[in-house]
Amino acid sequence: MRLLFVCLGNICRSPAAEVVARKLLPECDIDSAGTGHWHVGEVPYEPMQNAARARGYDMSGLRARQVVPKDFDRFDLIIAMDTRNLEDIAALRPKGNATPVKLFTDYAPETGRDHIPDPYYTRDFDGALTLIENAAKGLAQTIGQQR
Ligand code: 4NP
Repeated sequence: MRLLFVCLGNICRSPAAEVVARKLLPECDIDSAGTGHWHVGEVPYEPMQNAARARGYDMSGLRARQVVPKDFDRFDLIIAMDTRNLEDIAALRPKGNATPVKLFTDYAPETGRDHIPDPYYTRDFDGALTLIENAAKGLAQTIGQQR
């Protein structure tokens, strides 16, 4: 299964989701992208990398890219970090394409959260990682049940 995680900048939440999901779903093809163009080509934001490294995740090899309409054909499931991402992604959907686009927090109903708050603004990188780990576990269970 091919999974694409999407946030705004592709330097905090979605690259963190990418490395967490890679560990839980080694058989999946996993990538991440941002709806915005500002950070294309950059490594993940250093405070996010540091928080991830403290939990055993290496984000240093990732580089930011922008989501493109072709991603709808390249992936089986697109996962957004918040509703703004969801709407911006939906606007890129090619005619006739039916690839599902889901909110990541839908996979972690026990958290009671409806989005992953952006740590670039909240500065709570560790809290974002906790939510991402919970949602990734739920996602892995859902995918496992489908198999
Ligand atoms: P992300 O966080 O969407 O989790 O990567 C952001 C990083 C940078 C910006 C916005 C969000 N920015 O506007 O530069």
